[in-house]
Amino acid sequence: MLPSPPRFAIPFDRMNVATARTAESLPGPKGLPIIGNAHQVRPERLHLQMEAWAREFGSPFRLNMMGDPIIVSDDVAAFQQILRQRPHDWQRSTPVRLAAQEMGFDGLFTAEGEEWLPQRKLIMQALNHTHLPEFFPLLQRVTERLYRRFERASATGEIVDMTDELMRYTVDVTSALAFGEDPNTIDQSGDRIQQHMALIFPALLRRIMTPIHWWRWLPSPGERRLQRALKAVHGHVDALIARGREQLRQREPGRPRHLLEAMLMQAQSGESLLDDRRIRANVLTLLLAGEDTTANSLSWCMPFLAENTDAQEALAQESRAALGDSLVCPSIAQLERLDLCEATVQESMRLRPTIGIFMMTPTSDQVVGDVLVRKGERICMIHRPALQSAQYFDNPAQFRPQRWLREARDGVHDKRAFLQFGTGPRICPGRHLAMVEVRMVLSMLLAHFRVELTIPSADLEEVLAFTVTPKRMPVRLHRRSQ
Ligand code: HEM
Repeated sequence: MLPSPPRFAIPFDRMNVATARTAESLPGPKGLPIIGNAHQVRPERLHLQMEAWAREFGSPFRLNMMGDPIIVSDDVAAFQQILRQRPHDWQRSTPVRLAAQEMGFDGLFTAEGEEWLPQRKLIMQALNHTHLPEFFPLLQRVTERLYRRFERASATGEIVDMTDELMRYTVDVTSALAFGEDPNTIDQSGDRIQQHMALIFPALLRRIMTPIHWWRWLPSPGERRLQRALKAVHGHVDALIARGREQLRQREPGRPRHLLEAMLMQAQSGESLLDDRRIRANVLTLLLAGEDTTANSLSWCMPFLAENTDAQEALAQESRAALGDSLVCPSIAQLERLDLCEATVQESMRLRPTIGIFMMTPTSDQVVGDVLVRKGERICMIHRPALQSAQYFDNPAQFRPQRWLREARDGVHDKRAFLQFGTGPRICPGRHLAMVEVRMVLSMLLAHFRVELTIPSADLEEVLAFTVTPKRMPVRLHRRSQ
């Protein structure tokens, strides 16, 4: 049977505002008077709750958060359009921007209007893949450090929490690349910057989904912990900025060597909107954006690899061919051969999306499909249904990394349904860096070790902390014979 044509073939249907359905007319879970569904929402499980409600009420459905409607849809084609019509017609939702501002990381991710483009250009330039040759030796050094850590764990039979290990790796890489400072958190124990950062995303999500800002008047112990964490993280970032300034003072004038220098030089020139607060917000934005996303995407591969010997062996073969006698990938030329590593993470992100939901707000009334989204209302997309739909991906329940390789592609494979990096003018500027990290880490891991998950994969729990993170990912590494 021929697959049904992808929904993208249907033009985005701008219906008459007068005939469109409003949020209030959509079905949805029954709420209580005044508070609506606010008492039912569990921020850390929100994506799972929304998926379950979409199965029960269909898509789109609506939630009522104390009178504020949220329209929830699994229509990935409509969301493609929404994401492309930025920054003019759609923005990140107001609660996201307010919460980021309150916590001091209202940098590029939450910038809107005329503040967005200059920051975007600066960060795009800093993360551009043309810098890879200068940066590659550092990537090798940090990856080798992770190898040594894994080697020690495998020698003693220690069970590692893979997400935690990978978060140390991504923080070291992002810091070194963007701020010229490698904090070596992989080899550190005790009080690390990640432990503080780990509290920020869950708090951000809670604030976005909580209509009453009780924490301002009645700080709970959790809120006080968050305040301490924010203070520590801001202190860390301020120290980075102070050192960056000092280094600039001491060196010959010339090209910026990393993003922090580029921001400090722009601020000094007086030609930009960047002040100290914005620089700090962007340093923090990059640390946060670069850490969880990449680490979680890599970590979610573990159950698929552990359960799929063929996939592990295919990766091990590709990785050994590229690494030869080296501990880590020896050159950019070899890095480019590691397509199966990248395909494995893409496939894992398809089945276990790292970005569970997207939330947007229109700047004027917009019709999406047959639903009116009024200015200031929120529309939320749940991504998993499309990623696991036969409409976009052949045999969607099967873990088959090869589907992402051009030469092995057959049947339905509509990449436009894969929005894990967003799309349009605000597509993730760190996606190339993320995929370089993926290639470095997976090739090192699979060339030297076999991965065993020490709990049944059915026991893995997804926690929404802005990105979807595994509650735990206990892994034992077995050294491969050389
Ligand atoms: C697997 C890893 C990653 C995933 C899944 C991911 C995903 C995303 C998504 C979904 C967005 C929103 C895109 C949109 O609105 O259309 C985004 C934006 C962003 N990402 Fe990533 N990201 C990853 C890695 C990184 C890394 C490594 C960095 C930098 C070190 C980074 C920095 C950013 C920034 C600064 C933005 C805001 C862009 C803007 O609003 O213009 N990301 N990312």
